[in-house]
Amino acid sequence: MISESQIEESLKELFGTMDFKSEPAGLYDPLGYMIGIGGKRIRPRLCLLTYSLFKDSLGEEILQPAAAIEVFHTFTLIHDDIMDKAEMRRGMPTVACRWDGNTAILSGDVMCIDSYRRLAKAPADILPDILGLFTDTAAQVCEGQQYDMDFESEKEVPMDLYMKMIGLKTAVLIACSARMGAMIAGADERTCSYLYKFGYDLGLAFQIADDYLDTFGDQSVFGKMIGGDIINNKKTWLLIRALEKSGEMEKSGAVGPEYGKQALLRAMRMPVTNDAEKAAKIQKVKDIYEAIGVDEDAKYEIIRFHANAMENAGMTGLGKVRYEMLHRYADRLLGRNK
Ligand code: IPE
Ligand code: IPE
Ligand code: MG
Ligand code: MG
Ligand code: MG
Repeated sequence: MISESQIEESLKELFGTMDFKSEPAGLYDPLGYMIGIGGKRIRPRLCLLTYSLFKDSLGEEILQPAAAIEVFHTFTLIHDDIMDKAEMRRGMPTVACRWDGNTAILSGDVMCIDSYRRLAKAPADILPDILGLFTDTAAQVCEGQQYDMDFESEKEVPMDLYMKMIGLKTAVLIACSARMGAMIAGADERTCSYLYKFGYDLGLAFQIADDYLDTFGDQSVFGKMIGGDIINNKKTWLLIRALEKSGEMEKSGAVGPEYGKQALLRAMRMPVTNDAEKAAKIQKVKDIYEAIGVDEDAKYEIIRFHANAMENAGMTGLGKVRYEMLHRYADRLLGRNK
């Protein structure tokens, strides 16, 4: 088995020494910029972790596919920031802001291609399966992103459709990371599929936490602008739950009309043409969320999916030491504030 500190060392080395072609600079500079700033790297960490449960050393056969997942993820962020009109990512200006929209499109494209180049370093005998998993996952992420955008213009979205959407845009890539590490290590199909489910549930918890932090996080830690989801009328877990709950709470007299459903719908229509208007809308929606307690509900939901994930980890039948490694990984995600 490989220890968690060895995994951390390998991640540092892998991304610290990663370089991309230099010419034309307009195409390749954003790649080095985004990878260099570095995010939390939760996906390659998970991929190396599930590989480590079965193997004793980390070689290129796993390091490059793990890097492929992170490079692919980073590509999706560059395009996501265009779609979400975001100006800050990982505490720095987004690629579209620092350069421009066209640069973000094309450097994102080449980053996606780069991820396939790395993925192709997986062992030849299993490469078709790995390519299949990765390609299916990549298409699902696009499907999820399309639903996410479609939902922006819907007045209300049922919670089950929201769960389907975050399953696609976020959970499948985390699930794929968990499964891929085990597959490359040669684990049996049953174990691989429970690790996939483990990753999927963690991914759902992770996106609900992302929605929570987008409203209630600390911008300097989170690295993204607080309130962006509110400004864009994103159908986040908080908003969907609030739309369900605000009416009932008002009817029962638990809150006044200023925190009821009509007030929430009005807040969603508030103009956002300048910074003062944006701040007013964020504050109004946030006040309603707090008054009806959807912030606490979200925390509970995150814990519930975390518990589901651990149940799936238990179903793998891996021994205590290995289960504990998965547990520590999951706990680290659960406690996140960025
Ligand atoms: C951001 O992912 C997009 C979501 C799926 C919520 P991360 O929170 O993993 O972003 P980085 O890679 O750490 O910046
Ligand atoms: C996840 O959704 C984005 C991707 C799957 C790329 P968000 O739009 O909430 O991600 P952030 O908050 O911008 O990182
Ligand atoms: Mg988005
Ligand atoms: Mg976004
Ligand atoms: Mg978000």
